[in-house]
Amino acid sequence: RVTDYDDCWLQYDTVEDPTIRSSYRTRCAHVFASTEGPELGVARDELRTGLSGLLGRDPHLWMHPPRSVDGFLAVGRRERMAVVRAAVDAEEIDELHEEGYIVRSVEWEDKDCLVVTAATDKGMLYGVYHLLRRMAARRPVADVDIVEEPTTEERLINHWDNPFRASVERGYAGTSIFDWEQLPDLRERYRDYARLLASVGINGIVLNNVNTQKPARPGANPAIAEMEGWQLLQGRNLPKVAAIASVFRRYGIQTYLSVNYAAPILAGDLDTADPLDDDVAQWWADKADEVYDHVSDFGGFLVKADSEGQPGPYDYDRNHAEGANLLGRALEPYGGRVYWRAFVYASHKDRSVQAYDTFEPLDGEFLDNVTVQIKNGPIDFQPREPISSLFGSMPETNITCELQITQEYTGQGVHACYHVPLWKETLDTDTYADGEGTPVKELLAHRDGQGLAGVGNVGEDPNWTGHYLAQSNLYGYGRLAWDPDLDTETITDEWVRQTFGNDPDVVEAVSDILHDSWPAVLDYTTGHLGLMHMMYNQGDVLENHYNPSPGEWPGYHGATEDGIGVDRSEYAEQFHSPLSERYASVEDCPDELLLFFHHLPWDRELDDGTTVVQRLYDNCFEGVEEVRSMRDRWTELDDRVDTTRHRHIAERFDEQLAHAKHWRDTLVTYFYDHAGIPDARGRVPRD
Ligand code: GCU
Repeated sequence: RVTDYDDCWLQYDTVEDPTIRSSYRTRCAHVFASTEGPELGVARDELRTGLSGLLGRDPHLWMHPPRSVDGFLAVGRRERMAVVRAAVDAEEIDELHEEGYIVRSVEWEDKDCLVVTAATDKGMLYGVYHLLRRMAARRPVADVDIVEEPTTEERLINHWDNPFRASVERGYAGTSIFDWEQLPDLRERYRDYARLLASVGINGIVLNNVNTQKPARPGANPAIAEMEGWQLLQGRNLPKVAAIASVFRRYGIQTYLSVNYAAPILAGDLDTADPLDDDVAQWWADKADEVYDHVSDFGGFLVKADSEGQPGPYDYDRNHAEGANLLGRALEPYGGRVYWRAFVYASHKDRSVQAYDTFEPLDGEFLDNVTVQIKNGPIDFQPREPISSLFGSMPETNITCELQITQEYTGQGVHACYHVPLWKETLDTDTYADGEGTPVKELLAHRDGQGLAGVGNVGEDPNWTGHYLAQSNLYGYGRLAWDPDLDTETITDEWVRQTFGNDPDVVEAVSDILHDSWPAVLDYTTGHLGLMHMMYNQGDVLENHYNPSPGEWPGYHGATEDGIGVDRSEYAEQFHSPLSERYASVEDCPDELLLFFHHLPWDRELDDGTTVVQRLYDNCFEGVEEVRSMRDRWTELDDRVDTTRHRHIAERFDEQLAHAKHWRDTLVTYFYDHAGIPDARGRVPRD
């Protein structure tokens, strides 16, 4: 099937090694797969596509166990297939999570068989993706025994797409892939997107931007483009939502909408949205009925309230629990869920402390079907932040961690910046909420209504994500959401092999590039000591947060003549001990967060004997060299990677290098202008 867009990690190149190919063919050239259930239909399609690529010939699909063959692949329920019963005990299936699966080799009637089974069709689909992923990485299938279950229940993609205008608020990959004018007519690309998401275990998708209304009030974020996402709740648009949901449902993905808190006024004819008003409650209940009439398995609502100009319960002197529970009650009869964002701040005081101040006192007051969605850090997806102090502070509340897949502050569609290590750092950080050994990831695990939400990076571009290497962030997000314990190296290796093939030199070079990319961005955009918001913050949504402009928001990084950084001891206090003491102490605070938590003199000496300002200089210079070496590594692959992708990425690296120099020169000059201390190594900004 020819499309005008990329297959990303679902390429399925034919296995060249004859030994591996023959082993794969023995077990997978014949497939005995159940046909019941929509997801099983999908699983069969995926096997047909994947295996025909991998094996270099179409697999034979059977409705019964094939005879006269050396082996086969069986995909289906235990109760329906003797070969599955031979491989798997009934108790194993009983104990399996509903999205879990088993992939196991077994000898059955003298044949070398491979079994993929699960308790549900969805589990089976995930099992098929696992098997194909394994084969794409050329790993053995002769002797396997895999039992897999997701660690988190809710694994969502959040689109910041503005319906009807086709723009994506922080999108760097072209316009929105959702064509709301054309809907309910469907595009094939929706299905291919669902394939990508399901293959990494995503099980929910929010279709539209959290900003559902053009902000018209003081304090509104001027960067937000015009949008009218609230209109999706209008009856005339629900068939469009239903059409998209029908595609994603087949891949085990539930559909959600971002809604406007003032919807009863905007989409209805009430004159209030007060959460304690009976008419308002009735309006939401009726709206939920209507939505579920169209989409029987609708996931629920995502809400940005009282934030950056969006309306919310504060408009009626109500708190966020009262606000969120109103929607929770409306969705409750249908099993729907409210994701209520904790991204709330006002401009009058340090932003870092505000989410905690707002939400922690409300712990225990949210309904079971309400989840508080917390950004990884307290500010706003900066290249690096400490974790949000809300993690570990709301034990009686369902929480989810919001990560940004799209590279708003990390080079947008131009710079290579692999976010997986950044996310790992957040997820692995110990909150000490329940004593030592309570990392963020554990607080998100094994509970309905908990998990991860990732702000998506997909758009209409032929490569989906603007930069070919940014596909790794979408892939890595899904894999990490499924299992936050996976290490970065495993995820990277999987992605590179599936995307660029198994040539060891390519695997090594691309893995190294990804691995080096985030530290490089940290170096030249922040000086790598915990600074943030050094970028241009004015103007249009398409322009800001890309170029350096450190003078613009001095409150965030605190540069003065005597020093740099911000004293955030108040924020440090919001953590459990010993994290609070660690962050509060200049000596114990990790270097990479030092200037986030402390305002220090420019000439303050660090552990290794360098001064603050010298380290900032060194890191900015170092960052450029890191980009240069990533670019050179990539250049060397010119005869190993197809021309289209090689050229695209090479051009991006040229642009990144030039931009990294611009960042370095701007920051170094800025530091020098404030500190008045020259670089000890005598370097001057150069071209
Ligand atoms: C950032 C981002 C906005 C977005 C907001 C949010 O401020 O720049 O575009 O709307 O976060 O997460 O709600």
